[in-house]
Amino acid sequence: MFVFERVEGDQATRYVNILKQLEHLLEGEKDWLANLANTASHLYHSLDQVNWAGFYLLKEGELVLGPFMGQPACVRIAVGRGVCGAAVAEDETQRVEDVHQFPGHIACDASTRSEIVIPLRVDGKIIGVLDIDSPVKKRFDTLDQKYLEEYANILLRNTDWTPLLGK
Ligand code: SME
Repeated sequence: MFVFERVEGDQATRYVNILKQLEHLLEGEKDWLANLANTASHLYHSLDQVNWAGFYLLKEGELVLGPFMGQPACVRIAVGRGVCGAAVAEDETQRVEDVHQFPGHIACDASTRSEIVIPLRVDGKIIGVLDIDSPVKKRFDTLDQKYLEEYANILLRNTDWTPLLGK
């Protein structure tokens, strides 16, 4: 059983602890499905004011729902559609302070107000996205983005993605 202690302190201190926990959680395991599942759960339980945390994986040019925590979500998202599709099409993190102002936002949970989507790259190629939703407007700032991108990199470095790359 993993017991994760929440540390008090400023945002950076708490994130440094969360990053260390992820290293520990993934230690000795390279399986992509197991690691995505545990990472989604870890994020969901580590961050405050979050109602959905999980993954969409690129399959034949379309994003398909992967492991997550939160309400059931839409299964398929075309590249270029919604916040997730924009992250792939633009090849960069999308940080949306108010999803009601984002043209084409796909509402999976009506309570979501802000969202961050981080592309996952293996050998320079996008294999999917990490998506985190919050019921609070402007939940994610630039510091959240910096640490969550680092968090995604820890997952990427500690996982064998070969089965997803069709090699
Ligand atoms: N809101 C996302 C869809 C996925 S759900 O939030 C889980 C989007 O606009 O792409």
